[in-house]
Amino acid sequence: MSGRGIKRRVLVTGGAGFIGCNLVRLILTERPDWEVVNLDLLTYAGNLTSLADVEDHPRYRFIRGDVAEPVDVAKAMEGCWGVLHLAAESHVDRSILDPGPFLRTNIIGTRVMLDAARQCGVERFVQVSTDEVYGSLQPEDPAFTEMNRLLPNSPYSASKAGADLLVRAYYKTFELPVVITRCSNNFGPYQFPEKLLPLLIRNALADKEIPVYGDGLQVRDWIFVEDHCRALVEVLEKGRTGETYNIGGNCEMRNLDIIRKVLEELGKPESLITFVKDRPGHDRRYAMDNGRIELELGWTPAHTFAEALPKTVQWYLDNLEWVQSVVTGGYLEYYQRQYAGRHSG
Ligand code: NAD
Ligand code: TYD
Repeated sequence: MSGRGIKRRVLVTGGAGFIGCNLVRLILTERPDWEVVNLDLLTYAGNLTSLADVEDHPRYRFIRGDVAEPVDVAKAMEGCWGVLHLAAESHVDRSILDPGPFLRTNIIGTRVMLDAARQCGVERFVQVSTDEVYGSLQPEDPAFTEMNRLLPNSPYSASKAGADLLVRAYYKTFELPVVITRCSNNFGPYQFPEKLLPLLIRNALADKEIPVYGDGLQVRDWIFVEDHCRALVEVLEKGRTGETYNIGGNCEMRNLDIIRKVLEELGKPESLITFVKDRPGHDRRYAMDNGRIELELGWTPAHTFAEALPKTVQWYLDNLEWVQSVVTGGYLEYYQRQYAGRHSG
């Protein structure tokens, strides 16, 4: 990295994942006086091909390492002004098959990150969390605010809630300058095809069945990934220390409605929809109240679902090679384990 004219060095963990790669690219483009260090273990979910266009960028450095390993973290955090901590095991279904890696990366990893941040004198530490820590809403409930209790229902969301509580404790006990963000379901380019949207696009293109859990009437709030990334940069710069900010897309949708829209975009028949056994502990509804971040930081989502969904579908059509390159043997084994014998009949 150059060092000349640089005001800030920022560490992004999990930068080779879905949200991380979009965030690294956004920072390099929109903050010309920032340097970015990307610490990523390159698990099945991390892919350097997602950052191929910036790998030689003079203000970017990649370090392969584990957030749960103090030596790796100390090396990456050296000289950093701020941290955006995204690295995590992120897929609910995998956490049901095996919670172990979720506890190690999401909880122990966050502890290692927090200790290193104290050691390095980091000035801003943003913990990138999820609406799933709040649990599930009934249809008539108001959207989640930051005052909602943490009531996680999956090993994934429990591990994220555990991490959030540790982050809070480091603020209260050690006065570490932290901020927590909780975002809803992201969609956009470079999402690993185990998550609903890219899985559905990939299966539909191959005329393969689309597995719909339970009745498909679960509701999620959807946000275009670029809007989330922009909110993270705003929070890093201007968020109040010790505060939590919800980040939502103002877009509640039922799974079946999204699936139908994507099939329509692709010109594929609804007969591909296949109802399968429900996910255990499946949260029925998430919805986000953006009041605090709108009022304090002036952030609102810039993209509508109606405009960003076709753009996203087109991105996958234009980048089938990327999809092929990230779907390795390991993923194909997971797919078999997750969906074989799940038909509800
Ligand atoms: P992702 O699974 O696509 O990427 C995770 C990245 O973390 C990968 O590059 C992986 O290699 C890396 N990683 C995993 N374990 C690691 C370890 N031990 N050390 C270093 N790197 C490691 O996840 P994502 O969807 O980009 O999510 C990023 C963050 O945002 C997560 O913390 C997730 O909880 C949070 N989040 C995601 C969503 C969403 O809709 N995807 C919504 C809200 C919050
Ligand atoms: P997912 O993308 O896994 O995100 P999350 O569980 O974090 O919300 O799933 C989004 C919704 O789609 C969720 O209600 C589960 C459902 N779903 C299916 O019905 N079939 C699938 O094959 C997958 C992956 C998800």
